[in-house]
Amino acid sequence: MSQTDMTPRAALEALLGRHSLGPRWMVTPGPGPEELALAVQAALRAPNHGRLQPWRVVTISAAQRPALATLFEQFARDAGKSEEDVAAERERAWNGPVLLAWVVRIDTSVAKVPPHEQWICVGAAMGNFMNALHIMGYGAKILSGRKCQHPALVQAFCEPGEQLVGFTCIGTPTRELEPRERDEAGTRLSNWAV
Ligand SMILES: Cc1cc2nc3c(=O)[nH]c(=O)nc-3n(C[C@H](O)[C@H](O)[C@H](O)COP(=O)(O)O)c2cc1C
Repeated sequence: MSQTDMTPRAALEALLGRHSLGPRWMVTPGPGPEELALAVQAALRAPNHGRLQPWRVVTISAAQRPALATLFEQFARDAGKSEEDVAAERERAWNGPVLLAWVVRIDTSVAKVPPHEQWICVGAAMGNFMNALHIMGYGAKILSGRKCQHPALVQAFCEPGEQLVGFTCIGTPTRELEPRERDEAGTRLSNWAV
Protein backbone atom coordinates (compact mmCIF):
# COMPACT_ATOMS: atom_id res chain seq x y z
CA MET A 1 0.00 0.00 0.00
CA SER A 2 1.44 3.37 -1.01
CA GLN A 3 1.29 6.21 1.51
CA THR A 4 1.03 8.99 -1.03
CA ASP A 5 -2.51 8.30 -2.21
CA MET A 6 -4.02 7.45 1.17
CA THR A 7 -7.17 9.21 2.26
CA PRO A 8 -7.38 10.03 5.99
CA ARG A 9 -9.91 7.20 6.42
CA ALA A 10 -7.61 4.75 4.63
CA ALA A 11 -4.70 5.84 6.82
CA LEU A 12 -6.79 5.16 9.91
CA GLU A 13 -7.97 1.83 8.53
CA ALA A 14 -4.32 0.91 8.01
CA LEU A 15 -3.55 1.69 11.65
CA LEU A 16 -6.61 -0.22 12.84
CA GLY A 17 -5.57 -3.21 10.73
CA ARG A 18 -2.10 -3.66 12.18
CA HIS A 19 -1.55 -6.94 13.95
CA SER A 20 1.66 -8.71 14.79
CA LEU A 21 2.63 -11.61 12.58
CA GLY A 22 4.71 -14.51 13.85
CA PRO A 23 7.93 -15.30 11.99
CA ARG A 24 6.62 -18.64 10.74
CA TRP A 25 4.14 -16.72 8.60
CA MET A 26 6.80 -14.59 6.88
CA VAL A 27 8.72 -15.06 3.65
CA THR A 28 11.14 -12.94 1.68
CA PRO A 29 11.31 -10.19 0.72
CA GLY A 30 11.62 -8.16 3.87
CA PRO A 31 12.07 -4.41 3.73
CA GLY A 32 15.17 -3.14 1.95
CA PRO A 33 17.50 -0.47 3.34
CA GLU A 34 15.38 2.43 2.06
CA GLU A 35 12.18 1.01 3.51
CA LEU A 36 13.90 0.33 6.82
CA ALA A 37 15.19 3.90 6.86
CA LEU A 38 11.63 5.11 6.23
CA ALA A 39 10.34 3.03 9.14
CA VAL A 40 13.07 4.51 11.36
CA GLN A 41 12.01 7.99 10.18
CA ALA A 42 8.49 7.13 11.33
CA ALA A 43 9.89 5.92 14.67
CA LEU A 44 11.75 9.20 15.04
CA ARG A 45 8.41 11.02 14.63
CA ALA A 46 7.00 9.46 17.78
CA PRO A 47 6.51 11.71 20.83
CA ASN A 48 9.93 12.12 22.38
CA HIS A 49 10.38 14.18 25.53
CA GLY A 50 13.60 16.17 25.72
CA ARG A 51 14.68 15.04 22.25
CA LEU A 52 16.50 12.15 23.87
CA GLN A 53 15.58 9.47 21.32
CA PRO A 54 16.80 6.87 23.83
CA TRP A 55 16.80 3.98 21.37
CA ARG A 56 18.52 2.62 18.28
CA VAL A 57 17.99 -0.38 16.02
CA VAL A 58 20.66 -2.76 14.80
CA THR A 59 20.15 -4.95 11.75
CA ILE A 60 21.35 -8.54 11.77
CA SER A 61 22.40 -9.71 8.31
CA ALA A 62 21.86 -13.19 6.88
CA ALA A 63 25.58 -13.87 7.27
CA GLN A 64 25.38 -12.93 10.96
CA ARG A 65 22.56 -15.36 11.81
CA PRO A 66 24.93 -18.22 12.78
CA ALA A 67 26.71 -15.90 15.24
CA LEU A 68 23.33 -14.95 16.71
CA ALA A 69 22.38 -18.64 16.93
CA THR A 70 25.55 -19.27 18.96
CA LEU A 71 24.54 -16.52 21.39
CA PHE A 72 20.99 -17.87 21.66
CA GLU A 73 22.43 -21.34 22.31
CA GLN A 74 24.70 -19.93 25.02
CA PHE A 75 21.66 -18.40 26.73
CA ALA A 76 19.67 -21.64 26.44
CA ARG A 77 22.52 -23.75 27.88
CA ASP A 78 23.10 -21.32 30.76
CA ALA A 79 19.34 -21.44 31.45
CA GLY A 80 19.57 -25.23 31.73
CA LYS A 81 17.26 -25.93 28.79
CA SER A 82 16.91 -29.38 27.21
CA GLU A 83 18.75 -30.24 23.97
CA GLU A 84 15.45 -29.90 22.14
CA ASP A 85 14.88 -26.43 23.54
CA VAL A 86 18.49 -25.44 22.82
CA ALA A 87 17.93 -26.38 19.18
CA ALA A 88 14.66 -24.42 19.12
CA GLU A 89 16.43 -21.40 20.60
CA ARG A 90 19.15 -21.62 17.93
CA GLU A 91 16.48 -21.73 15.22
CA ARG A 92 15.07 -18.40 16.43
CA ALA A 93 18.20 -16.69 15.08
CA TRP A 94 16.73 -17.26 11.61
CA ASN A 95 13.40 -15.66 12.52
CA GLY A 96 12.12 -13.34 9.80
CA PRO A 97 13.74 -12.41 6.48
CA VAL A 98 14.77 -9.17 8.18
CA LEU A 99 15.74 -9.22 11.83
CA LEU A 100 16.83 -6.32 13.96
CA ALA A 101 17.59 -5.64 17.60
CA TRP A 102 16.28 -2.75 19.72
CA VAL A 103 18.87 -1.17 21.98
CA VAL A 104 17.84 1.39 24.62
CA ARG A 105 19.82 3.87 26.68
CA ILE A 106 17.94 5.33 29.63
CA ASP A 107 19.67 8.46 30.94
CA THR A 108 18.90 8.75 34.66
CA SER A 109 20.70 12.09 34.90
CA VAL A 110 17.98 13.96 33.00
CA ALA A 111 15.71 15.26 35.78
CA LYS A 112 13.17 16.70 33.35
CA VAL A 113 12.60 13.34 31.68
CA PRO A 114 12.39 10.55 34.26
CA PRO A 115 13.10 6.96 33.17
CA HIS A 116 9.44 6.01 32.81
CA GLU A 117 8.96 8.83 30.30
CA GLN A 118 12.03 7.71 28.35
CA TRP A 119 10.59 4.17 28.22
CA ILE A 120 7.31 5.60 26.96
CA CYS A 121 9.27 7.30 24.16
CA VAL A 122 10.87 3.97 23.28
CA GLY A 123 7.49 2.27 23.12
CA ALA A 124 6.05 5.07 21.02
CA ALA A 125 8.98 4.77 18.60
CA MET A 126 8.48 1.01 18.37
CA GLY A 127 4.79 1.53 17.68
CA ASN A 128 5.43 4.01 14.89
CA PHE A 129 8.05 1.66 13.43
CA MET A 130 5.58 -1.24 13.44
CA ASN A 131 2.84 0.88 11.90
CA ALA A 132 5.15 2.11 9.14
CA LEU A 133 6.13 -1.45 8.24
CA HIS A 134 2.48 -2.48 8.20
CA ILE A 135 1.55 0.40 5.90
CA MET A 136 4.37 -0.69 3.57
CA GLY A 137 2.76 -4.14 3.44
CA TYR A 138 5.09 -6.08 5.73
CA GLY A 139 4.27 -8.30 8.65
CA ALA A 140 6.34 -7.87 11.80
CA LYS A 141 6.56 -8.97 15.40
CA ILE A 142 8.53 -7.83 18.43
CA LEU A 143 10.04 -10.70 20.40
CA SER A 144 12.13 -10.51 23.53
CA GLY A 145 12.34 -13.03 26.36
CA ARG A 146 14.85 -13.62 29.12
CA LYS A 147 17.68 -14.00 26.63
CA CYS A 148 17.72 -10.22 26.16
CA GLN A 149 19.26 -9.97 29.63
CA HIS A 150 21.90 -12.62 29.02
CA PRO A 151 25.36 -11.01 29.38
CA ALA A 152 26.69 -12.46 26.10
CA LEU A 153 23.76 -11.04 24.12
CA VAL A 154 23.90 -7.72 25.94
CA GLN A 155 27.60 -7.46 25.22
CA ALA A 156 27.10 -8.36 21.57
CA PHE A 157 24.61 -5.56 20.92
CA CYS A 158 25.03 -2.92 23.61
CA GLU A 159 27.55 -0.28 24.59
CA PRO A 160 28.00 0.29 28.33
CA GLY A 161 24.80 1.80 29.76
CA GLU A 162 22.57 0.33 27.08
CA GLN A 163 19.96 -2.43 27.33
CA LEU A 164 18.81 -4.99 24.79
CA VAL A 165 15.03 -4.73 24.70
CA GLY A 166 14.11 -7.24 22.02
CA PHE A 167 14.11 -8.15 18.36
CA THR A 168 11.77 -7.31 15.51
CA CYS A 169 11.36 -9.84 12.73
CA ILE A 170 9.90 -8.56 9.49
CA GLY A 171 8.82 -10.16 6.23
CA THR A 172 6.14 -10.56 3.61
CA PRO A 173 3.01 -12.11 5.14
CA THR A 174 1.89 -15.52 3.91
CA ARG A 175 -1.50 -15.19 5.54
CA GLU A 176 -4.03 -12.58 6.54
CA LEU A 177 -3.27 -10.69 9.73
CA GLU A 178 -5.56 -11.81 12.51
CA PRO A 179 -6.68 -9.82 15.53
CA ARG A 180 -5.98 -11.62 18.81
CA GLU A 181 -8.92 -9.96 20.49
CA ARG A 182 -11.55 -7.40 19.77
CA ASP A 183 -10.36 -3.92 20.74
CA GLU A 184 -12.96 -1.92 22.65
CA ALA A 185 -12.18 1.80 23.01
CA GLY A 186 -14.66 2.01 25.89
CA THR A 187 -12.45 -0.15 28.10
CA ARG A 188 -9.76 2.55 27.98
CA LEU A 189 -11.74 5.76 27.54
CA SER A 190 -13.80 7.44 30.23
CA ASN A 191 -14.82 10.85 31.51
CA TRP A 192 -13.06 12.25 34.55
CA ALA A 193 -15.36 11.58 37.50
CA VAL A 194 -15.01 14.53 39.88
C1 LIG B 1 8.94 -4.91 23.98
C2 LIG B 1 8.05 -6.05 23.59
C3 LIG B 1 8.50 -7.35 23.75
C4 LIG B 1 7.68 -8.43 23.38
N1 LIG B 1 8.15 -9.72 23.53
C5 LIG B 1 7.37 -10.76 23.17
C6 LIG B 1 7.85 -12.09 23.27
O1 LIG B 1 8.97 -12.36 23.68
N2 LIG B 1 7.02 -13.10 22.90
C7 LIG B 1 5.75 -12.85 22.42
O2 LIG B 1 5.05 -13.80 22.09
N3 LIG B 1 5.29 -11.59 22.31
C8 LIG B 1 6.06 -10.54 22.67
N4 LIG B 1 5.59 -9.27 22.56
C9 LIG B 1 4.21 -9.05 22.09
C10 LIG B 1 4.06 -9.20 20.59
O3 LIG B 1 5.09 -8.53 19.90
C11 LIG B 1 2.69 -8.63 20.10
O4 LIG B 1 2.62 -7.25 20.32
C12 LIG B 1 1.55 -9.31 20.82
O5 LIG B 1 1.55 -10.68 20.47
C13 LIG B 1 0.19 -8.69 20.52
O6 LIG B 1 -0.07 -8.76 19.17
P1 LIG B 1 -0.53 -7.47 18.37
O7 LIG B 1 0.70 -6.60 18.21
O8 LIG B 1 -1.09 -7.99 17.09
O9 LIG B 1 -1.59 -6.79 19.19
C14 LIG B 1 6.39 -8.18 22.87
C15 LIG B 1 5.96 -6.86 22.71
C16 LIG B 1 6.76 -5.81 23.06
C17 LIG B 1 6.25 -4.40 22.87
